[in-house]
Amino acid sequence: MTRIALVTGGSRGIGAAISEALKAQGCTVAATYAGNDEKAAAFTKETGIKTYKWNVGDYEACKAGIAQIEADLGPVDILVNNAGITRDAPFHKMTPQHWHEVMDTNLNGVFNMTHNVWNGMRERKFGRIVTISSINGQKGQFAQANYAATKAADIGFTKALAQEGARAGITVNVVAPGYINTEMMSTIPEKVMNEVILPQIPVGRLGEASEIARAVAFLASDDAGFITGSTLSANGGQYMS
Ligand SMILES: NC(=O)c1ccc[n+]([C@@H]2O[C@H](COP(=O)([O-])OP(=O)(O)OC[C@H]3O[C@@H](n4cnc5c(N)ncnc54)[C@H](OP(=O)(O)O)[C@@H]3O)[C@@H](O)[C@H]2O)c1
Repeated sequence: MTRIALVTGGSRGIGAAISEALKAQGCTVAATYAGNDEKAAAFTKETGIKTYKWNVGDYEACKAGIAQIEADLGPVDILVNNAGITRDAPFHKMTPQHWHEVMDTNLNGVFNMTHNVWNGMRERKFGRIVTISSINGQKGQFAQANYAATKAADIGFTKALAQEGARAGITVNVVAPGYINTEMMSTIPEKVMNEVILPQIPVGRLGEASEIARAVAFLASDDAGFITGSTLSANGGQYMS
């Protein structure tokens, strides 16, 4: 049976790897993005995966976007809440705007997306929700009070919703990546990478987006029906909770 998968922020970075892994697993995939049309068009050209643009922080936009995807491809079986942003600042310098932008995308976005696929999954008695949290939501991180709050909230949200979805055949899980080799990481100076970041990671390297994608693809598969409410840490041993 071909499953329909929707990956938010699925046009680049970790999300792009997730979209491709789900496609390789046999799913029909829709990837969303916020504004980078160029990257999204290149991704669609390269992979054949359709991309859709809207802001996950906007409930009505999520509702309309999901309706469009369901009209184009069919009912959504798998939702991966991957879209996320950072607005880092030490707390004494953090502005309400820093706080609210991160809440709107990372936390309200997860509600807006999940709420708009939930009833359909309940009616069809099948669903897979996987949300991408972060090691920094598990352990905290200097200058990331906003980001860590949202990423910790993903875990509470998941544990609560897993209990509601269980009888309806819907599993709800989290993948919590450590430091992953994405564009964001390539901006870090070599000295900081070698002397500060890598020594904190027992396996001695950054993770690859494809390694996160494989973890997500497993939790999204029909085979993972007995796993719900869990947090799968993929961080090279940097933090064990
Ligand atoms: N990179 C890491 O080391 C790391 C570690 C732990 C957790 N994570 C988490 O993993 C996820 C992906 O991270 P990444 O580094 O791959 O990010 P990224 O390269 O910055 O890509 C983010 C994606 O999310 C989309 N997006 C951002 N804000 C959005 C919004 N309001 N509405 C819809 N789409 C939006 C972006 O769209 P545009 O292309 O249009 O901008 C892009 O497709 C995030 O949740 C992040 O917190 C990352």
